[in-house]
Amino acid sequence: MSVPLSVRPVRRGLPAAEVITVFSDGKTFSLPEAAARPVRSRASNGARVAREHLQRAAFKGEAHETHALPLPGRTARTLFIVGTGKALTLDVIRRGVAAAVQHAKAEGLRTVSIIAPFAAVFGSELGRAFAEGALLANYRFTAYSAETAKREKRLALQRVELLVPPQERKAVEEGVQRGTIDASATMLARDLVNEPASRMTPQSLVEEAQKIAKASRGAIELTILDRAQCAERGMGAFLAVAQGSTAEPAFLHVVYRPAPKLPIVALVGKGITFDSGGLSLKPADGMETMKIDMAGAASVLGVFSALPKLKFPIEVHGFIAACENMPSGSAVKPGDIVRTASGKTVEILNTDAEGRLTLADAIAEARKVRPQVILDLATLTGACVVALGEEVTGLFSNDEATAGKVLRAAESAGEYVWRLPLIPEYRSNLKSSVADMKNITGKRWGGAITAALFLKEFIGNTPWAHLDIAGPSYAEKQTHPAIPVGGTGVGVRTVLRYLESLPTR
Ligand code: BES
Ligand code: MN
Ligand code: ZN
Repeated sequence: MSVPLSVRPVRRGLPAAEVITVFSDGKTFSLPEAAARPVRSRASNGARVAREHLQRAAFKGEAHETHALPLPGRTARTLFIVGTGKALTLDVIRRGVAAAVQHAKAEGLRTVSIIAPFAAVFGSELGRAFAEGALLANYRFTAYSAETAKREKRLALQRVELLVPPQERKAVEEGVQRGTIDASATMLARDLVNEPASRMTPQSLVEEAQKIAKASRGAIELTILDRAQCAERGMGAFLAVAQGSTAEPAFLHVVYRPAPKLPIVALVGKGITFDSGGLSLKPADGMETMKIDMAGAASVLGVFSALPKLKFPIEVHGFIAACENMPSGSAVKPGDIVRTASGKTVEILNTDAEGRLTLADAIAEARKVRPQVILDLATLTGACVVALGEEVTGLFSNDEATAGKVLRAAESAGEYVWRLPLIPEYRSNLKSSVADMKNITGKRWGGAITAALFLKEFIGNTPWAHLDIAGPSYAEKQTHPAIPVGGTGVGVRTVLRYLESLPTR
């Protein structure tokens, strides 16, 4: 269900919407009277009434604090006040818009106005944050529940509008278009993650990539390698993971090529469409959400869906080694030794550490296009979730400049990313007595780091950032107003902003 978004000129008085959203630091309010004097509105009547009410409600105006104030009148209407803390930031706006949309949906209200007399401070980025907040908050996966589908239809929002000073309208509208592209890409990734594993097989990922290529009208090329072609290229690690499943594996190479001779970025996504653990079988509760193990691939495809719409001026390649990790009579066995596409051999001691195996071969394939940087997104380790919790992506990088750019991109996207170290001392834990390395350490600690160190063995000198999204790729419960329960599409907006930050030469 999509939401009609609009940008309109702010006028004196309250707009005719059911949810009227203003921002407040606890003292001043972004009411329309303030249009001439951005943010600071002290004397107006509306501000005084709101202030008095909020004093009673003990509203402090802290960042992300919200308060719904019923407005007098015949119809159910609320003044929805979003706390800004000390400073109004784009993330406060994004979350505030999302919270207002959630409020409307929860109360059965259908029209939302966001009053933004401060638009000049943010320009087009305001429109972008507004669109992202509104669209991502409104997202629901309804494909298999008639009841939820019906409720969503019944509660569909009629209008979410952003009210800005007239001279800002054009810039903000451009931002809304940009934010709509970001949000659509994220929602595509969410859809792919939310599909059950029996519906989102390696072959289905291929079909999704084909749809994206088709919609790009020639801007995106797609090459698919089947099992035999992967074998020809020596992808022994990927095929070892795939061999326990009856589902055919597929290797996807997606290319967005605006013009020759541009800098090349490679995106690699982990594409395990179901991770049972293989013969090193997971316990039942550890398997419940393992349809999400292709979230990295989903985010990479989400990014590709946006690139042609943006007429993006950088050549981007995507690599996805897609398969299921299943136990069976043909499954890879603990103790097996495989040869990766790079030539390095790996002793597989735990078949549940499969992501790094498939990624090793995908990285080798990525390096063939000589990218100036490789970014990988992978639901790689439970250890990363232990380290950072469910809402923070772990970042590993061999390059300071790349790490810095990714962190800044995440910050402006409003996604939590925290850098973890590639401690060289831990590398020795991956030493095998029979192969070049083994796929686990046999130690309990530092699992996110050793998994990243495993990948690093295949990266060579290419600048690289690895995003371990095991925690934030799926929301068990809603804690962020723009992230409903289920697949989150994490990484899509960070990667898009990262790409934007690169020089295009
Ligand atoms: N796909 C899992 C990691 C994961 C865990 C993702 C929880 C999302 C939520 C990965 O393939 C895995 O099983 N990793 C093992 C590695 C271990 C065997 C060294 C893990 O984290 O337990
Ligand atoms: Mn696993
Ligand atoms: Zn996995």
